[in-house]
Amino acid sequence: NNKITLIEKQLSDWCSETFTACFPETDLSSIHLGVIESKKEQFGDYQCEAAMKLAKALQNNPRAIGQAFIDKAVLPDVVEKIEIAGPGFINIFLKNEGLSAQLDAMLGDDTLGLPNIGNGQTVIIDYSSPNVAKPMHIGHIRSTVIGNSLDRLYRALGYNVIADNHLGDWGTQFGLIILGYREFADQEALKTAPVEELERIYVESYNRSKDDDTWRDRAKAELVKLQQGDAENRALWEKFIELTLSEFNKIYKRLDVSFDLYRGESYYNDDLASVIDRLQAEKLCEESEGALICNLEDDNLNVAIVRKSDGGYNYTTTDIATVASRTEEFQPSEIIYVTDERQQLHFKQFFHICKKLGIDTKLTHVWFGLMRLPEATFSTREGNVIKLEALLDEAEKRALEVVKASSPDMDEAQQREVARAIGIGAIKYTDLSQNPQSLVTFTWEKALAMDGNSAPYLQYAYARIASVRDKYAAQFPDTNPEDFPIILTEEQERRLALKLTRFASAVEAAVRLHRPSIMADYLYDLSQAYSSFYQNVPFLKADEGPRESRIRICALAAAVLKNGLSLLGIETPERI
Ligand code: ARG
Repeated sequence: NNKITLIEKQLSDWCSETFTACFPETDLSSIHLGVIESKKEQFGDYQCEAAMKLAKALQNNPRAIGQAFIDKAVLPDVVEKIEIAGPGFINIFLKNEGLSAQLDAMLGDDTLGLPNIGNGQTVIIDYSSPNVAKPMHIGHIRSTVIGNSLDRLYRALGYNVIADNHLGDWGTQFGLIILGYREFADQEALKTAPVEELERIYVESYNRSKDDDTWRDRAKAELVKLQQGDAENRALWEKFIELTLSEFNKIYKRLDVSFDLYRGESYYNDDLASVIDRLQAEKLCEESEGALICNLEDDNLNVAIVRKSDGGYNYTTTDIATVASRTEEFQPSEIIYVTDERQQLHFKQFFHICKKLGIDTKLTHVWFGLMRLPEATFSTREGNVIKLEALLDEAEKRALEVVKASSPDMDEAQQREVARAIGIGAIKYTDLSQNPQSLVTFTWEKALAMDGNSAPYLQYAYARIASVRDKYAAQFPDTNPEDFPIILTEEQERRLALKLTRFASAVEAAVRLHRPSIMADYLYDLSQAYSSFYQNVPFLKADEGPRESRIRICALAAAVLKNGLSLLGIETPERI
């Protein structure tokens, strides 16, 4: 597409070209010459800070550099004026007509002006990735929600995304589970709560292995049989995966999450020996107490075991094999992994080893802190296991109360449908909106607040805009707003317009920094800008002309909110 030139991009290119023209003899390639959004309105709409950085490189006074810029600059159409401020900032003020033209262009584009940055490049996102025979924990749901939002954001910018659910479906625990299953599985429980029962079997079998040598040896024998392809054990193992996945898939369905691949750890079994060969050939590993390790102490990354003394491989080995296989098969420009913070060292280690093996694909670990859940969060909570299904049920139940209060006249089925969208949205938004690396505590009050930074607040803002649109259509059935130009007269109107033109920059920044929270913050600011516009600027009562212009701005605000929320995986009911 690229039909629409983003204002920010246009300004950045312009600043960079002008500075280059001012100092043709100097190499400016390492200095950021572009613009950023101004923090305060008196500083204009955008600012360029390059003069201060150039001052260091050129050993000159920043204001003099700013002046040189101003003397040289030929203002682009969209710019009203520029000025130097403070130590040498260049403040850029946009013309109202420039903003209206951009809104017009966005209204005429299905993608609302999103640039095709990805241009068909493949990106693999490895997310959710829970373990077989263990319930998904609160960290997996966060990985699922953040990973899925990254998936949507990358796709929106034209990347070809492969969502891969890298299930933990292999390892020594399967010997214990198979033995335990044979000895004490409760078939009834396996039908009603399969994952819980599998976990119970595992825990009990593991506990027995601790002080019962015979039990441990028998489990080991089952594992060896599984590894050697014994038909019966293989079938049991497949059954465990199937039972677990059928549970997980219920959650994925409710969260509207889907994967292109389900390649668990076992998929790479046959590649593990050759990973070791490669590491040995490159002299990247060494023998230590019978095990094979990569010593990364020189790089402050400790040591990573790649083959245990009993000959078994582990997590690091599998992940190296995974990268090798993915790069060969898909030639991705980036592989992104989404997990909780506890795995940071693991990812640093195998990224480092991959680099030493000459794999130069960009590897990114997106990590997040575990959300704290106060004791009173759930009505159903058993031991330490938080059942995700219960969390989602509770969210929908509480959202239903909210909907019943706000729309008592809505029929019950619709109330339930809206409550589902709000409840699921609230959970997702809580996971997405926080800076993922700070510790947060989950509360229902915050998640379901109608007047704070929450999904219901944004969904409600959308529904309100939709209702204004409907009211307009009912009152003025014969006028087509498209026949009128967008004109920006009021302050709040201009502010909203400026915010709307920044949609693409928000998506682009969320992708560049792998942070859906940037998108969430943008949408929250947008709906606040909309609120003050709606409260202060006459609308349906305005004269013909401004009225149609405003309804068109409204339509764009609705489209940006709907689209933006869908990039977070959040639905927007027309009525709440
Ligand atoms: N199964 C792992 C866990 O639950 C997460 C896997 C993440 N992906 C990866 N390629 N290591 O902790």
